[in-house]
Formats: sequence, C-alpha cells, structure tokens
Amino acid sequence: MNQHLHPQPIPFIDVGAQRQRLGKKIDEAVSRVLAHCQFINGPEVTELEAALASFSGAKHVVSCASGTDALLMVLMAKGVGPGDAVICPSFTFCATGETVALTGATPVFVDVDAETFNMDAASLVCGIATAKRLGLAPKAVIPVDLFGQSADHDAIGAIAQEAGLFVLDDAAQSFGASYKGRRLGTVGLATATSFFPAKPLGCFGDGGAILTDDAELAERLRSIRVHGQGSDKYDNVRLGLTARLDTLQAAILIEKLKIFEDEIAARNRVAERYSRGLGNVVKVQRLAPGCTSVWAQYTIRLPEGTDRDAFAAALKAQGIPTAIYYPKSMHQQTAYQHFPVADGGLPVSESLSADVISLPMHAYLDEDTEDLIIAAVHGAVST
Ligand SMILES: Cc1ncc(COP(=O)(O)O)c(C=O)c1O
Repeated sequence: MNQHLHPQPIPFIDVGAQRQRLGKKIDEAVSRVLAHCQFINGPEVTELEAALASFSGAKHVVSCASGTDALLMVLMAKGVGPGDAVICPSFTFCATGETVALTGATPVFVDVDAETFNMDAASLVCGIATAKRLGLAPKAVIPVDLFGQSADHDAIGAIAQEAGLFVLDDAAQSFGASYKGRRLGTVGLATATSFFPAKPLGCFGDGGAILTDDAELAERLRSIRVHGQGSDKYDNVRLGLTARLDTLQAAILIEKLKIFEDEIAARNRVAERYSRGLGNVVKVQRLAPGCTSVWAQYTIRLPEGTDRDAFAAALKAQGIPTAIYYPKSMHQQTAYQHFPVADGGLPVSESLSADVISLPMHAYLDEDTEDLIIAAVHGAVST
C-alpha cells in the first residue's frame, strides 16, 4: 500500500509554488512600498485599480479591504435597508447573505442548478414572488459565480430588469472568468470580488474590489470606503467604513496580475484533465454554454449512497487533501435559518450540501499528481 503514497503531501492550493515563481518580483514590489512608506492610498493602489479595469474591461474599479466589504459597500451605496429584500443563492459562502442582513434588509434564499451549481433562474422568479408575498420590497439580486464559473447572467439580468432589481454580481471566487465573451466585472450594475489568498487572484492577506461602469456609484463607493467622506475631508456626508486596500497588498497584486492569464490557462488544463478522468465515475461541475471558469474549486458530486467521510478518509490516506464547500447551505445555518426561502424550497442546494467534495486545484498541479488524484477517486468510489 505504501508504494501508492505520494512522496510529499499534496497541497490543496499551492500558494508556495506561485510564491517561488514570483519570488524576487514580489520582494522588490514590497521593498518599494517599504521605501516610500505610503502604506495607505499609495501609488500602487491607483495603479492596481487601473490594471484591474484594463484586465476586466470595467470602466471603474474601487479596491477595498475584502470581498465582504465589496458586497456591503454596494448595498450601502444603493441605500438597501430594512423592508428591502435581496435575493441570493443559498449554496454559497456566507458573506453573500451576511452582507444583506448587515444592512437590515432581508436575504431571500433561492435554489441553484444541479449541474452548474449557480443560481437557478426559475427559483429567482419564485424568490421575488416570495419576498412580495411577505410584504418585502425586492431591491436587488446577488448572483454568485460559484467555484469560478460565471452564472447565467442573461437570464438573471432579464428577470431582474423586469422586476426592477439591480444586479450585484458576487464574483469573489471568479475574477478572470467570462460570460459570453465579456469578463466578469462588466455584467450587472456592479461586481464584487475578493483577493483572499486562496482565491484565483489572491493577495497576502485580505483584499477585494468593486467593478462597475457607473461613474456615480464608483464615486459614492470611494466615499464609503473612507467613512463616507465628502469633498471636505472632515465633513463626512454619509455613513461609511474603513475599507481601504493596503498599499502593500496592491503592490503584490500588481505582480500577480501579470501572470494571471497564464495561471487561468493552467487551471483550465487541470480542470479539463480532471473532467475527462472523472466524468464517468462522479458528477463534475458542468460549464454552461458561454461561461468560462477560473476554477477556484474543482468540485465533484459523489454517487448516491457514497459515504462522504469515508471517501475523504480514503483520499487522505493517500496524502490527498479534500474540502467540503459547503456542508450546509446558508438557509440551513444557525444564523440564517429564520430568513425566508423561495416558495417550493431549495432541494438542489440541500442535496449539493450533502454530496459535494472539492479536490486539490491550483495552477501548479502536475500531470502525475493529477493522475494519482484521479486514480484515488476511482478507487474510493468503487469501494
Ligand atoms: C462567494 C463569496 N462571496 C464573498 C466572499 C467574501 O470574500 P472575503 O473573504 O474577501 O471577505 C467569499 C470569500 O470566500 C466568497 O467565496
């Protein structure tokens, strides 16, 4: 049995390999900031925002302290609050619905598609009806581009427009992906993303950004980012936050963005190989037509009756780490159980939470390791 063991533990996400590739460039970028000492709003922050705008095609980029702040700042800028409903998928990271609840508005959870794991347009329609039935004013929808793949933005956008909702895209996991040839950041009113280290484009701490084509919104976001300041620094004109991106993180991201296209291509090669090797034994996340992914996670669904803990233990015994995103959908979690769900319930979210598991995924996985993981999955499913 020992002969099957990988010589070194396989990382789930290999931040170290990228660090090695970029080594000197990152050191120099950090040294430049340490030399000029403009740790807040240094020149790298503006430079990064311009680079992100040119990469994505968005007209305005407002960097900020995290993906969570990015979502919250847009909701604050749009005046979302008590009595309003914001429609969110339940199968997502908690920040999607959490930021809605923090404004005093009500998150209304809707279901996702069983194959793409992204918001189900039919359930969005039900969610809007549920919100109205409860006497809430539907104000916005937050589609999530889950695990790196863009959501069905045309379908969601059309429903939102018809119902008078604005679209805040939660692209925390998917910066760099595209929808029908357009990079995320250019669909909906605004897009929020995260630079948490494990994200496809991650910094060395917390970070995030908002992308929008709306100049007035961008202006308001820049004010909210610094306590709601107005043109006179000491006359604050609205409530805000301390939500700036550190100059050091911006300097690191500028270097990482230079190799990001190459890393996206590598992630897609890994995903294609996984999908070819695994598609006949487990269900793999399907790429919808017109959608690309940056594969923040490579997530599979285990066949009915598979013991997920035993499956994870079998892979772990071979040095292969796994993770479960998400063992509970938001509407199943203690803090969110009291919020409404779309009429008809969320059966897909609940079954995904019961049978998904994610495999190691990063741009530096080599083919031997991929083969080992594929073989381990085959072995663990058939036992
Ligand atoms: C879908 C989604 N939304 C929002 C966030 C929040 O981002 P951050 O951790 O940078 O606050 C995350 C982070 O994991 C996420 O996955």
